Amino acid sequence: QTTILTINRDHPDERAVETAGRALREGKLVIFPTETVYGLGASAYDAAAAAAIYRAKGRPSDNPLIVHIADIADLPLVAREVPPEAMRLFEACSPGPLTVVLKKSDRIPDAVSAGLDTVAVRIPSHPTARAIIRAAGVPIAAPSANLSGKPSPTRAGHIIREMDGRVDYIVAGEDCDVGVESTVVTLAVAPPRLLRPGGVTLAQLEEILGPVETDQAVMHAISAGAVISSPGMKYRHYAPASPVAIVEGSGAMEYIRAHLTPDIGVLCFDGEQELFAGAKRAIPYGDPARPETLAHNLFDALRAVDEDRYELVYARAPEPQGVGLAVYNRLLKAAGHTVIDAPEVTE
Ligand code: TXA
Ligand code: MG
Repeated sequence: QTTILTINRDHPDERAVETAGRALREGKLVIFPTETVYGLGASAYDAAAAAAIYRAKGRPSDNPLIVHIADIADLPLVAREVPPEAMRLFEACSPGPLTVVLKKSDRIPDAVSAGLDTVAVRIPSHPTARAIIRAAGVPIAAPSANLSGKPSPTRAGHIIREMDGRVDYIVAGEDCDVGVESTVVTLAVAPPRLLRPGGVTLAQLEEILGPVETDQAVMHAISAGAVISSPGMKYRHYAPASPVAIVEGSGAMEYIRAHLTPDIGVLCFDGEQELFAGAKRAIPYGDPARPETLAHNLFDALRAVDEDRYELVYARAPEPQGVGLAVYNRLLKAAGHTVIDAPEVTE
């Protein structure tokens, strides 16, 4: 039995915040909004509660959870060591869409870290998330609140449809601003390595840390036998019901238009819908000149794609730069790394 609480970001209902906080402290499961995506939270000190997260999501138990705290001052509760570069990173980019992998404190059970000796830590900026974490009084382990294999939820409607009956509380709030999951960078290796691109860009990280390596898995399919730096990488996150292919290059529009049939879907940019009138459906998801708009709408658009069946869905993708890298990375996963390069058409 799930209780749904509604909390407004700017005018929070204090009693609802207190209810959600107490539930978390007592080992219950609470879904709440963050600035990236909705999270499925439980006390990060409670191994049984962490195990319940994996069950509720149908998540493989070797994929560790991100631990959320409200303040930099709480870092020592979750990390054994907080190196100076971690402090600089958190001071520059937190609260916000950034997760940093550090050496794990003994207080964090193996169920949270999936047996690794590191822990992923994030300080979200969303006021509702922060208020709930503070009210709980314990660090909160929270993966994205989707069923394993589905796109991360960015709208209250997504979670109510998918998770009602699977958790104790759902805190329904506004749409998530960023729309893709946080940037994950590990400081457990030298040089630091970008494991997952998100709202904090590689350029921002490098400004603070100096050179940061981008893990192979960000842009490339993982080959059999490869060393995996972040367990989440090896899972095909979003398995849309229909096959998806990214079409890129200056001839992308012409290529898609030449291949339209009433069984084809298109994930397109704003203003392109009429040009794809021959498709079963064209779903616009933002403006490529402002990749943050694409990030904001991507998962909602992928869920819209799943409302129908298509022979193939062609996806328009932004340049893999800045926040566009996060969008491109999620599209690659949705497409199972199928990319069609469409060079300029010459008459
Ligand atoms: O924006 C977000 O990060 C959201 C919200 C709810 O905060 N959370 C989220 O969690 O996206 P999740 O569980 O869906 O993704 C966590 C990612 C996975 O790819 C996992 O493998 C990686 O972080 N991760 C967690 N702990 C790690 C560790 N110790 N070392 C390397 N990667 C880790
Ligand atoms: Mg996830």
